[in-house]
Amino acid sequence: MHDRNYRERSSHKVQEWNGKGFAGIDFFVSSCGELFKLSARTGCTDRARRFRIWVEKPEDMKAQEQARPTEGPGRARQVQSIFSEIAPRYDLLNHVLSFNVDRGWRRKAINRLGWEEVPEGRYLDACAGTFDLSLELSGREGFRGQVLASDFARPMLLEGLPKLEGSSVHPVCGDSLLLPFSDASFEGAMVAFGVRNLSDLSTGLEEFARVLKPGRRLVILEFTEPPNPLLRRFYLFYFRRILPLVGRLVSGHPWAYTYLPESVKEFPSPPDLAGMMKGAGFQEASWELLSGGIAALHVGVR
Ligand SMILES: C[S@@+](CC[C@H](N)C(=O)[O-])C[C@H]1O[C@@H](n2cnc3c(N)ncnc32)[C@H](O)[C@@H]1O
Repeated sequence: MHDRNYRERSSHKVQEWNGKGFAGIDFFVSSCGELFKLSARTGCTDRARRFRIWVEKPEDMKAQEQARPTEGPGRARQVQSIFSEIAPRYDLLNHVLSFNVDRGWRRKAINRLGWEEVPEGRYLDACAGTFDLSLELSGREGFRGQVLASDFARPMLLEGLPKLEGSSVHPVCGDSLLLPFSDASFEGAMVAFGVRNLSDLSTGLEEFARVLKPGRRLVILEFTEPPNPLLRRFYLFYFRRILPLVGRLVSGHPWAYTYLPESVKEFPSPPDLAGMMKGAGFQEASWELLSGGIAALHVGVR
């Protein structure tokens, strides 16, 4: 059995296999729930071989620890620093790592926003990054309104600025948990791959509800884990093994792309998120799974 899930289950680190034994003694809980004590004296090395423990290099372990989403206010600093550092490579990696399917997801998100009812209105793109979602809306034929695109990582906004030439998108550097806009000031709001990063999701959802006009929509696009077990296995392998590796090589950041699967793992499921949206003041909250459940599109009506 190849135990790929040990990291979720193990409460202790697994040391590097040096060919003779493990440097140190650790406990290790296998995916079938057994507790192994790893020590040369108890013949753990045979056991480890027999159970083919996934041995990680110390630097990978460090990256894994740093990539774990921080709790509380430290989370905002962690997220701000990740996106500020990867900003120059963000767009490239986004499209490469998602095989460009992210473009279709953004198109779908805008299709569900209901902007056609008020094409000259003001729309909010929160956690806007390099403006791909904002531009998807502002580029729609018949759209005559304004998009306020806010993000707290300045380098992301700066990176996206050249794309805004001639558009009706206005960048704003600010925190989504404390939006600098008055109540009921938007005809629609949207967030793509941003809510997962908020240090306080409920406060974020309440802020989006606050700035929306009654009856208008919030659209949230976010990663999730596919319900189909086969697709889920493939997806988790790609997400936890391939994506961090390619991300590290291209972005040069040692753990930013390890943070991504970690943050998805901890994020509420689509039904739970819909429940939170209702709790935050949305009258209705529905969702649909995209691409077999790799992503979910949520729509809340204020
Ligand atoms: C994965 S990127 C998504 C960017 C863009 N929406 C897209 O679709 O490509 C997440 C963005 O959320 C921003 N972000 C996370 N937490 C935030 C907060 N509390 N306030 C403002 N921006 C935030 C990050 O700086 C980052 O640019």
